Amino acid sequence: MLEQFANDVSKGLSYSPKKISSKYFYNKEGDMIFQEIMAMNEYYPTDCEYEILRTYNQDMLEYFYENKKEFDFIELGAGDGKKTKILLKHFVDQKVNFSYYPIDISCYAVNNLKKDIGFILPKLKVKRINREYLEGLEEINSLSKNRKVILFLGSNIGNMTYDEGVLFLKSISLKMKKNDFLLIGFDLQKDPLTILNAYNDKQGITARFNLNLLSRINKDLGGDFNVNQFYHYPVYDPHIGEAKSYIVSKVSQDVHVSKLDKTFHFKEGEVIYTEISKKYSIQMIENMSKEAGFEIKNNFIDKRQYFTNSLWIKT
Ligand SMILES: C[S@@+](CC[C@H](N)C(=O)[O-])C[C@H]1O[C@@H](n2cnc3c(N)ncnc32)[C@H](O)[C@@H]1O
Repeated sequence: MLEQFANDVSKGLSYSPKKISSKYFYNKEGDMIFQEIMAMNEYYPTDCEYEILRTYNQDMLEYFYENKKEFDFIELGAGDGKKTKILLKHFVDQKVNFSYYPIDISCYAVNNLKKDIGFILPKLKVKRINREYLEGLEEINSLSKNRKVILFLGSNIGNMTYDEGVLFLKSISLKMKKNDFLLIGFDLQKDPLTILNAYNDKQGITARFNLNLLSRINKDLGGDFNVNQFYHYPVYDPHIGEAKSYIVSKVSQDVHVSKLDKTFHFKEGEVIYTEISKKYSIQMIENMSKEAGFEIKNNFIDKRQYFTNSLWIKT
């Protein structure tokens, strides 16, 4: 994984404009800062998803367990699984026969999650998968033939453009069988300031999260970024429903990364593009499900209509 990070940073800082994938936010520090983000008032998606999962956990179960057959409950990018635990606990209380497979590229995330679930739900069968999404699904396919119920919560899908999202979901679909389920979180289009504030909190938590990418390069790849010489710059374009985050160089400067044996020049005001958070309309979600080979069974939506957990079945 370190080799891939090194290659991606080397390529990304050589592009014009410079670019590093948001998947590299999540090292140990990044995981911890993301937990602070989820607890922020401005970061509404977490509350919305809590509300949806609490309100509709039984309705969801009725889809997943309609034939009372054991299923595999697979989570892509599980993180700390805080919201998922609402469903896990409900299913265990209902004596449902299922196994939980959290997939995450962050080994801290999957290790902590497994430990945590061991305490609160000791009887639940959990197998942690420390891999990229698709590799993780491949591994699970070699272990089990049960019906799959795949979770993709927290608007991780928003970290892709619409077209990238369709391609990604098509490749997920290839690893599924007919009638397997996919439950995806989509952040819905809404008041632009509400959206922007979620990436631009006054306490500076989202700024720390974004800039931690530079600290990670320093730590893992021997970079000499002076993090104070950069700032976090988020924008939201309501026309296309895209929030984007950038890191901006405050001055003209050179940064050397010893493990890459390379020096990168930054002009004053030059940016690194680090994250897209795409916002959806219900119509776009319908189009996307069809293009990717699924049918929507239900859109579970919170009271404010900020967010949906959309339940799809593979056709
Ligand atoms: C924004 S957090 C969301 C966590 C959780 N799903 C939630 O809703 O709270 C994204 C998680 O996905 C993981 N992740 C990001 N890209 C990944 C990839 N390509 N393969 C596997 N995990 C990934 C990160 O390590 C992180 O734990």
